[in-house]
Amino acid sequence: MRMRAVGAAFLGIAAGLWPCPPAAAAADRPQTRVDCAQAKCVALTFDDGPVPGTARLLGLLRRSGARATFFVVGVRARAHPGLVARARAEGHEIGDHTEHHPRLTALPSARVHRELATTRRTITRLTGTRPTLFRPPYGATDRRVAAQARRLGLAQVLWDVDTLDWRHRDPSAIARRAVNGLRPGAIILMHDSRPTTVSAVPRILRAAKAKGYTFVTVTELLGPTVPGRTYVHARR
Ligand code: NI
Repeated sequence: MRMRAVGAAFLGIAAGLWPCPPAAAAADRPQTRVDCAQAKCVALTFDDGPVPGTARLLGLLRRSGARATFFVVGVRARAHPGLVARARAEGHEIGDHTEHHPRLTALPSARVHRELATTRRTITRLTGTRPTLFRPPYGATDRRVAAQARRLGLAQVLWDVDTLDWRHRDPSAIARRAVNGLRPGAIILMHDSRPTTVSAVPRILRAAKAKGYTFVTVTELLGPTVPGRTYVHARR
């Protein structure tokens, strides 16, 4: 979910960012390799699912050959295990968005750890791949949260383009914000939990393709990430 953009940008600059092209670990190597030094790469990210409507989104992405990253909520992943497994099987990346979507900065460290660790375990069980990325709900993070992420081998992924899809009920407004935010290395925030967002996706895919963009996962975009470190976009 959303956060203050200024804070996100600051964290990203402070953290330092990894350049394309990625040299991903063998297990995380994408099915089709994309050299983001040559291609105009951008990462679509979908938070707060999976929900039944995620199936429709997966179909849209597959038809367009686009890969995305899903930051799943643990309780929803366990309610819809087939969707998580399918997303991974179709080349998407699965990241940890905590078990219950709390504001982590308000929790004691032991609970932060549990929120992250439980969902990390669920993702590993459902996909056979241990996640390396985590997105804090509301973008709310601090040194304490970062320390727990580091312990669990999770990098923190924020975003630099907010489609404000949690506010808009109009697919064309969401699509416009996403398309206006397109630039190489961008990480775009959306929510597959919202049907309006899914309705905006065909327009985003069409417009981005026409502008020569390739949709990749966050790990393809960033390359290897450092646990505990915060990323908002790829180095440009
Ligand atoms: Ni969220």
